[in-house]
Amino acid sequence: KNPQGAPDPKLAIKVQKVGVVGAGLMASQFALLFLRRLQVPVVITDVSQERVDKGLAYCRAELDKLVEKGRLSVDDRNRYSANLSGTLDMNDFADCDWVIEAVFEELKVKHDVFTRVEAVVRPDAILATNTSSLSVDEIGKVLKHPERLVGFHFFNPVAVMPLLEVVKAAKSNDVSVATAMRVANDLKKTAVITSDSTGFVVNRLLGYLLGEAMKAVDEGIPFEEVADAIAPLGLPMNPFDLLELVGLQVGAHVLDSMYGFAPERFYKTDSLHQLAKLGRIRTKDSKGNKTGYDPEAIK
Ligand code: CAA
Repeated sequence: KNPQGAPDPKLAIKVQKVGVVGAGLMASQFALLFLRRLQVPVVITDVSQERVDKGLAYCRAELDKLVEKGRLSVDDRNRYSANLSGTLDMNDFADCDWVIEAVFEELKVKHDVFTRVEAVVRPDAILATNTSSLSVDEIGKVLKHPERLVGFHFFNPVAVMPLLEVVKAAKSNDVSVATAMRVANDLKKTAVITSDSTGFVVNRLLGYLLGEAMKAVDEGIPFEEVADAIAPLGLPMNPFDLLELVGLQVGAHVLDSMYGFAPERFYKTDSLHQLAKLGRIRTKDSKGNKTGYDPEAIK
C-alpha cells in the first residue's frame, strides 16, 4: 500500500549499489539489511580504518550467526560477504546510486559528509540521512542538489523494528521520496512519510516518555521505582533500557533537540549527558546480564 502523500512509485530508481557513511552500530545494522534484502554491493566508510573494520566485522559476525541459526545458507552468506566492502576513499562511492549516512548528530559533521559525497556521486544518485534529531533541509543546505536528499530514519534494533520514517523535506523531490519508499519496501519495512519537523513522529512521542522518566529520576525517584511503575504498561522495554539500546548519547541528543523545539513540552536533562559520559545506567554480570542500576548513575 502506498501511504498518503507518497509520490508515484514508478518514479523510483532501482538501487544497484549502496554507500553507507559511518560504520557505528546503527550504520552497520542497516548495511547488513541492505546486503540481505537489496542483494546489491554495499560499501562502508568512516573516519578511520579501525572503525571501518569494526563495522565490517559486525556485519560478517551477524551473517555467521544467521548461518548458525539455520536462517541463511552458506552460499548466501558468502555472496553477501563478497558484496560487502570497506574503504577510506570516497571515490569508491562514485557508482553508488543510494548513499545513506549515520554519522555523529552534529550539523557540521553531516555537512562535511554530504559535501564529500556529492563531489563524487553521479547527478542522479539519491542521498539519505538517518538523522533522528536534525532538520533534513538544514543538512541539505550544503548540497548543490538538495532535492535528492531525504530522511530515512531507522529504529533500533534495525533488524527487528518494522518501522521506517521517510522524511520528505521541503526540497526533497518526488524521485527521491519514491526511491526511499521503494528501498523501504525492499527492506520489508513499513514506511511512513513524515514532514521535516523536529523529532519527525516517533521521537516526539519517545522524547516525551524518556524525558519524563529522566525528570522523575532528577526529582529523586530511584531508577528502579520508575521502571517498576511503568512495567504494567507492557512496553517492550522500560525507558532506561531503551536509552541504553539507542545509546545514551543519542538519547541525550534527541532530548536536547526536542527541548530546543518546544521547551514548554519537553524536558532537558543534564543527568542524561552525565550518564552518557559514564556509558551506562545498568550494571551487568560477567555474562552481560543486567543486574541492577549503577550506583554511580543514581548519585
Ligand atoms: N539485533 C538483531 N536482532 C535482535 C536484536 C539486535 N540488537 N535484539 C533482539 N533481536 C531479535 C532477536 O534475535 C529475536 O529474534 P528471533 O525471535 O527471530 O530469534 C527477537 O529480536 C526478539 O528478541 P528477544 O527475544 O531477545 O528479546 P525481546 O522479545 O525482549 O525483544 C526487542 C527485544 C525487540 C529489542 C524489544 O525489547 C523491543 O521492541 N524493544 C523496544 C525497541 C524500541 O522501541 N526501539 C525504538 C528505539 S528509538 C530509535 O531507535 C530511534 C531514535 O532516533 C532514537
